[in-house]
Amino acid sequence: MYTVKHTKKFGKAGMLGYFLKGCRLLFAVSIISSLVTTFINVVIPQVISFAIDSVIDDVPPEGLFAKFADMFGGTGWLKAHMWALAAVIAGLALLMAVSQYCVTYFNHRANQALMRGMRNKLFSHIQRLPPGWHSAHQTGDIIQRCTSDADAISNFISNQLTSLVRIVIMVALSLTLMFMMDVKLAAVASAFIPVLMAYSLVFYSKAGKSFKKCDEEEGVLSSLAQENLTGVRVVRAFGRERYERDKFERQNVYYTGLWVHIEKFLAAYWTTNDFLAALQCMLLIVVGTVFCLDGSISPGDLVAFISYNTMLMGPVRQLGRIISNMSRAGVSIARIGEIINAEEEVYGEAGALSGDIEFRDVGFWYEEGKPVLKGVSFKVPQGSTLGIIGGTGSGKSTLMYLLDRLYDAKEGVITIGGRDIRDIPPATVRANIGFVLQEGYLYSGTIAENISAAVEGAGTDAVVHAARTACVDENIRSFASGYDTVVGERGVTLSGGQKQRVSIARTLLRKTPYIILDDSLSAVDSDTDAAIRAALAKEYGGATVILISHRITTVMHADNIIVMENGGIAEAGTGSELLKREGIYRRIYDMQMSLPEDLKGEAGYEE
Ligand SMILES: Nc1ncnc2c1ncn2[C@@H]1O[C@H](COP(=O)(O)OP(=O)(O)O)[C@@H](O)[C@H]1O
Ligand SMILES: [Mg+2]
Repeated sequence: MYTVKHTKKFGKAGMLGYFLKGCRLLFAVSIISSLVTTFINVVIPQVISFAIDSVIDDVPPEGLFAKFADMFGGTGWLKAHMWALAAVIAGLALLMAVSQYCVTYFNHRANQALMRGMRNKLFSHIQRLPPGWHSAHQTGDIIQRCTSDADAISNFISNQLTSLVRIVIMVALSLTLMFMMDVKLAAVASAFIPVLMAYSLVFYSKAGKSFKKCDEEEGVLSSLAQENLTGVRVVRAFGRERYERDKFERQNVYYTGLWVHIEKFLAAYWTTNDFLAALQCMLLIVVGTVFCLDGSISPGDLVAFISYNTMLMGPVRQLGRIISNMSRAGVSIARIGEIINAEEEVYGEAGALSGDIEFRDVGFWYEEGKPVLKGVSFKVPQGSTLGIIGGTGSGKSTLMYLLDRLYDAKEGVITIGGRDIRDIPPATVRANIGFVLQEGYLYSGTIAENISAAVEGAGTDAVVHAARTACVDENIRSFASGYDTVVGERGVTLSGGQKQRVSIARTLLRKTPYIILDDSLSAVDSDTDAAIRAALAKEYGGATVILISHRITTVMHADNIIVMENGGIAEAGTGSELLKREGIYRRIYDMQMSLPEDLKGEAGYEE
């Protein structure tokens, strides 16, 4: 028995915290450096103002600057030694350069750590999600979530969030200092700030929709290209190049048009924005000069005001973009949340299973209202062989998925050795069942690696032995590099039958007490089929074997045979019993046995 461990569920903030684990300190250093930079940025205009007013001119300094001047022996001394002031400014600039360096460096490090952690967390979580989840989600969509959405989240944390903190502090500090210097002029200097903020906010939330549209259309364009590349043979064979090219071109033109439209929009935005910023600056200079002339502010203050004004324009205009992007990040967080919060399969200790397999009244559907299996009951005694025969779509593979706990039965019970398999962790069930799937899959790598994939540290002898049992050893040796032949996407293409036999060898190497061959001999000829079954019986005599096939000769010698039809068992018994019954099995038998050798297995079903 094992205890169920439920996947931890996260809210949006909780999930950010989870991803940030391990890189919080780096982000903290980056943010603190950023605050230091901001602080120096805000202080420098004050020093310049002091230099103009109290050193060049003769206005007596106040507050902190009075203490500062005293430190150097009064403004008189500073006047005689202007370099001291220059040195202070240079010192501040140097400090700012160092802190700016720290901002960039630590931010990048933190971001890389964040991305690495996020990729690992997502990948290992997805690995543990049940096959039912995988079949309900498209691969492209999962990949998009793990790339684009993960990027959006890391961008949100490392870019937007830190910028937001910096901007808010910068605006608050500068405004406070400006209002302390002169309330009226500060009001003038900040007059356009709300306007600029509102304008950029409205613009970016509108533009966000257009950007999203562009993203989607780009997706359409790339899937068009992808479809075309994967179907290149069909396209050529049917002479559809022109049609495909036109289709691609239409989408391409549409997509390009969207970008041109956005750029037009962006150009209008930035020019208007620049114009508003220039207006603000002009207003400040005009009013400031008037104030300066009538003596209500000093020239130094005016210079400081102009510095703050210039300094604030950029960040204020960025703010709208940041805030609108933040809402996009919210969408990404929700999309990643759907993955992170999906329930993982339970992994437990892999113990050995033994005993009979029994299905009792098993029912199953992939989609509500469309039953795929109903009321299926049968028993496979330990050590015996069961043959399953039936038309495409009759539910044979699904039956085996349930046994392997790739999905769980919706009705009824499946037991192994009397234990309900729902009480056995999926990993344990699968460790005991060698399942050769109908659609064989080879990893990119050598044939030897493919065969030993499921068994760590398998020796060459064991690999060759498994290949021999699966009747593929000779084929492999006929390749120039033998067992080191690279297969998979970039390697040699194996024939369907060779692929099936490599998959069988991989499963046999695991030496499991239960073996399922789901239509795994369909692409090999009848003689090889028979040779593999004979080798299996000899080598794995103690194993419980389930053979699924279209070919009557594959299943006819099994201890028991079931005939599947429309998700139920139509007939069951031994080969000779079924022949006597004169039912479906008999009909298939007669049709296939009367055919020439190479067509056996092809007839018998109205497909
Ligand atoms: N992942 C799936 N989602 C929805 N329907 C499925 C899925 N896999 C199989 N089916 C449907 O279940 C039925 C049985 O399929 P399957 O078990 O593969 O039959 P068989 O192996 O006998 O050909 C078919 O109608 C098929 O379309
Ligand atoms: Mg099948």
